[in-house]
Amino acid sequence: MNLVDKVAIVTGAGRGIGKAIAIALAREGANVIVNDIDIQTAEEVVKEIKSLGWKALAIRVDVSDSKEVNQMVQLALKKFKRVDILVNNAAIIKRGSIEDLTEEDWDKVIDVNLKGAFNCMKAVVGIMKKQRYGKIVNISSIAGKIGDLASAPCYGASKAGMICLAKSLARELAAYNINVNVVAPHAIKTDMSKEWSEEKRKNIVANIPLGRMGEPEDIAEAVAFLVSDKAKFITGEVLDVNGGYLMD
Ligand SMILES: NC(=O)c1ccc[n+]([C@@H]2O[C@H](COP(=O)([O-])OP(=O)(O)OC[C@H]3O[C@@H](n4cnc5c(N)ncnc54)[C@H](O)[C@@H]3O)[C@@H](O)[C@H]2O)c1
Repeated sequence: MNLVDKVAIVTGAGRGIGKAIAIALAREGANVIVNDIDIQTAEEVVKEIKSLGWKALAIRVDVSDSKEVNQMVQLALKKFKRVDILVNNAAIIKRGSIEDLTEEDWDKVIDVNLKGAFNCMKAVVGIMKKQRYGKIVNISSIAGKIGDLASAPCYGASKAGMICLAKSLARELAAYNINVNVVAPHAIKTDMSKEWSEEKRKNIVANIPLGRMGEPEDIAEAVAFLVSDKAKFITGEVLDVNGGYLMD
């Protein structure tokens, strides 16, 4: 177990990739704050983690609201006395051409995906600096590197922003022993990718050298590595987890 007694916040952890990350970090010994805007799913994840004998707490917070985010972090601090790990995973996607998408769509996607990550980072950084210890991982996307592949330009822009935000903070916070990294997934089996047609799915898999879509656990294992001390000399890195679809 690599994360014994560490305290981790995972946003958007009620389902999909966030859920798998929360479970993986709890398995490694961390106390995990399972955040989601949907408290019911977050509570179910906590139940599952506790049934395995591990530790977790559900907190309903909308990451785009800085006040709510600060309350979540203060609650985590009160309960567990520290915050060691932050995984910015919560995200939404709005699909459509630039002509179809509205200003509200843009604001909503940027607010949740990019401002949400900013809010959470801002809320934990002071604590991590005092501890002189912290691990932050932004869950971006292949869309943040090469542009979106599924007609979701606001989403792609938000994911690119998460990469640059992480790299900037990696430089700013390195002196405080805080590592900031990014995982860039592609084609993971979750609700977000469920909307793809069978044809699109086949097309995508045909272009993945490892010949399959990813499982949420594929991302969770990459995150569990990056937030452990095994990765202590890695910061500002963007780790592709995409079955070889993009090699750069
Ligand atoms: N599934 C993929 O193929 C894929 C590919 C690339 C990147 N990603 C990224 O991985 C991450 C997880 O994706 P997923 O496929 O599991 O998505 P998902 O839609 O299944 O889950 C997202 C979770 O975030 C929560 N959430 C949404 N808005 C929130 C808010 N304002 N505050 C708190 N929680 C909120 C949702 O309730 C949900 O539980 C996202 O950042 C996504 O961009 C996914």
